[in-house]
Amino acid sequence: MTVIKVALLGFGTVGEGLYESINSHQQQLQALLGAEVHIAGVLIQDSEKQRRLAEDVLVTTNFNDILNIPDLQVVFEAIVGEDPSYEYLSKAIERGCDIITANKVMFAKHGEELLRKAREYNVSIGYEATVAGGVPVIRTIAQLLQVNRVEKIQAILNGTSNFILTEMRKNELPFETVLKSAQDLGYAEADPSNDVEGFDAFYKLMILSNLLFGKQPDWHEVKVEGISEISNHQIQSAHQKNERYKHIAEIKKDGDQIIASVGPALTNEDHPLYNIEGVDNAIVIKASLAGTIAIQGPGAGSYPTASAMIEDFAHIFQNKKAAYALT
Ligand code: HSE
Repeated sequence: MTVIKVALLGFGTVGEGLYESINSHQQQLQALLGAEVHIAGVLIQDSEKQRRLAEDVLVTTNFNDILNIPDLQVVFEAIVGEDPSYEYLSKAIERGCDIITANKVMFAKHGEELLRKAREYNVSIGYEATVAGGVPVIRTIAQLLQVNRVEKIQAILNGTSNFILTEMRKNELPFETVLKSAQDLGYAEADPSNDVEGFDAFYKLMILSNLLFGKQPDWHEVKVEGISEISNHQIQSAHQKNERYKHIAEIKKDGDQIIASVGPALTNEDHPLYNIEGVDNAIVIKASLAGTIAIQGPGAGSYPTASAMIEDFAHIFQNKKAAYALT
């Protein structure tokens, strides 16, 4: 059977979930692609840490070892932060690999550049996992709303914030206690400040901006606020009036201008995001022909994020199969 050789960059919550998911869904992948997916290499940070990896996997702290894997076809990237992942992915593209990333800050900053480079080298980029975890929002917009003009998006894009707001309201738990649970459950980043200060949702919104409008607003013009200043008292007083705090990211185009904002808002039962609870994310899309469409699902966590990456992978290889069949 044909083998597709892949490598993983990063073996944290997402990387490990991806490793397990590729192995546990090998049958589905083989049936779909007619090929076996072999994880040939894993780039790690700390060589002292114990990991459960098969013996035939090259485990290394040196990215060049990964680049030198013969016949490597795909690089999955789940590293935190802009550097060095941007450099790694550029090199992987130059080597002719398709890339699939979950890295929000890196893709918000360098996504357009990487997409240009990918076109130049005739490879594909999957970035579904950068926005809303397991919710297929990128593909919905890019492939299912190609003719519609998307007029506005209103969304919950940070699972950690929504989980914290939900637990503080329902169980009257203090912020720090719920944040700790969000970290234990693999929702929050190791440094959770981007989650609770609104920047994680902001980066995701900027990725959507590129996709929707082919550009981003000036980052300094976007008001970004997180949930860290909302007190238990505020949450409970709102609750008594049947109102809920939601962390909402919004974007729309007004003429040539893109208007975006990220921050907490009080919602009542009539609001489309009022019932989005726990780690779920939701995206409400107002489209010119279709009307208002909403999609919802787990926005963070190991397997939902791995799901988005594997689906990207399957999609890229199905397209390749279709292209071969046509030639
Ligand atoms: N920390 C992120 C969140 C993970 O809570 O939404 C998914 O991007």
